[in-house]
This record gives sequence, structure tokens and C-alpha cells, in this order.
Amino acid sequence: MAETIRIPEDAYFAVSPLMLFAHTQGNFEVYLRQDGGFVLYTRTGEQFTPAHKRTMHEAGVREVFVLREQSARFRRYVEENLGAILANEDLPVRERAGIFYDVSVSIVRQAFTRRLPEVMGEAEFARIRRMVRGCTAFLSRGEGLRAVGGLIGHDYKLYRHSINVLVFALAIMRTYEVDEESLVECGLGAILHDIGKTSVPREILERPVKLSPRDKDILRTHPVRGAALCAGMPLSGEVLNVILFHHEKQDGSGYPSGIAAQSLPLMVRVVAVADKYENLISGPRWQAGLSPFLALRALSERYKGKYDPDVIRRLVLVLSGAGLAGKGAPGQDEAREGGQG
Ligand SMILES: [Fe+2]
Ligand SMILES: [Fe+2]
Repeated sequence: MAETIRIPEDAYFAVSPLMLFAHTQGNFEVYLRQDGGFVLYTRTGEQFTPAHKRTMHEAGVREVFVLREQSARFRRYVEENLGAILANEDLPVRERAGIFYDVSVSIVRQAFTRRLPEVMGEAEFARIRRMVRGCTAFLSRGEGLRAVGGLIGHDYKLYRHSINVLVFALAIMRTYEVDEESLVECGLGAILHDIGKTSVPREILERPVKLSPRDKDILRTHPVRGAALCAGMPLSGEVLNVILFHHEKQDGSGYPSGIAAQSLPLMVRVVAVADKYENLISGPRWQAGLSPFLALRALSERYKGKYDPDVIRRLVLVLSGAGLAGKGAPGQDEAREGGQG
């Protein structure tokens, strides 16, 4: 048996053994807790085998430990394997749902601290986390986990994009007077808005140059593909509208239908702005993203007439730190003025 290693307890973080997938290789060490210390279980680069999994299961191991200094490597490993675990019907739904929630919240945390102003404190984070809990609980039922597993497995970057869109969309939606149920629906729409891209070939999604007109046409089928993919899920019409119409424009130049987007529900217009803003700050695969300032300027100048100006105005308020801190806070009334009802 390997010897017990004396490293301070807080140098480790605990993960579920279900996060270690058989037949994969982790670029990090895994420890077990034993006799008040930590025992090295697998080495960096060692393959996790079904035997490892079985031994842990038989010993009733509920937590394994990874060194904090290797957390970036562990995160990368999870990103690479998460799609497969969520789609794995052999694993209990509860465990998969827990992992799905944890990963989603960690992306929300990153977006929250890096991309929103500091005035959005812990209370606001807790609120968004509650919405995410509602969304992930819903998506953990029926076909949901397989669908998001497909999305994550197809392109993890796309999933991160979807969660970032969720954070911006919820921050905007909050400035309207809507109930919690609508916020969760909006979050679901944001998580699923690009799910149709799972049936667009990966080479097109990952092409590091501008797309040819033909590839663009294929990419533009994703809203319709997404709506078709989700038709069997018990989603509301609002959520399906978000999936189908998030690329429509106010001036009718969008797709798939080319209808004038001001006639679309608020949730669709909000996700459309959050999506465009996220794409502008992240940048396409062939170039760096814009700063928040330049992205907002692009939304109101370069894309003038394309998106709902009131939604853009509210995004500006959100990002400037106004209209966020709850009822009665400075900016809140301003944000409500001109609301669309
Ligand atoms: Fe899209
Ligand atoms: Fe998108």
C-alpha cells in the first residue's frame, strides 16, 4: 500500500469518484483519504480502469481528492469528458445531474466575476445560481441530460458560451418585472439556444477562418434543427421560441423566418442581445473578442436597427453597475422606464 502523504488538508479539493471516467487518462494525481492523511491512488497520466472504479465502489469511496495546484488540469479533463458522462445511461441520473449543476455553476462563477461589474455581489450570484439549479433540475429529467450531454460533448466551448449567454440574459431580464418562473424559462432558453449546432458538423463550428457561403447556410440551419431536437422535451412555447428565433433581427434581416423581431416575445429579444454581446466579447474563432465598451458600441452603432434598443439600453445599465442591486437601488427606476411590458 502506498504511504500516507502529509500535505496540508486545504491543499486538496474533493471530487466525486464518478468524475473519473474509466478508460480515460487524467493529467493529475488522485488521492484517497485514509487514516487522517492522503494516499496517492493514481498518478499523473495513469489510465483510470474499470478495476479502479470497482475498487473504489466496493470500498464505499464517496470522495477522492485532487491537489489544488492541479485544478486547471482537472477542469480540462472534465471538459473533455463531461459530454460522455452526461450521456451515459449507466450512471445514476442523480449523480449526472449533480455533476451537470456543479460544472454549470463553475462557469457562471467565472462569467460573474470576470464579466459583470463588482457591484453584483454574492446575493446576486446566489440568485443566478438558484435559476441555474432550476434549469439543471429541469434538464436532468427525461431526455434532457442526453441532449445537454450531446451539446457539451460536441463542443464544450459552445456550452460555455451558452452559460455565459444565460448570465447576461438573466441579468437583463431581472430589470424587467418578471417572475422567477420566467427567469428559469429564460435560463433554459439560453442554455438550449444553440443546441441545434450539435447536428452541424464540428469542422464547420471549429473552422478557424471565415466561413464560405455554403458553410454559412449550413450553420444557419441550427435554430430549426434545435427546435426539432427539443420538440420531444416538455419545454414551453417561450423556450422553443428562443431556440427558433434567437437570430431574427428587428429589421427582418435575420433567420430562419426573416420576420421583424419586434413582434417576438421579450425573452427572445433578450437572449438575442445577450447572445450577440457574448459573441462580440468572445470573438469568432479567427480573431480576439472586443472589450465590453467596444462590444456595446458595436451593438448600438454597427448593428443599429438589428436588436431591441431597450434591451441594449438595459444591458448597458447592467454592465455599468446600475439597476442591479435590487429594489430601490440607483438606476433601478431608470431601468424600468420605457419597459415593454
Ligand atoms: Fe445561435
Ligand atoms: Fe449563441
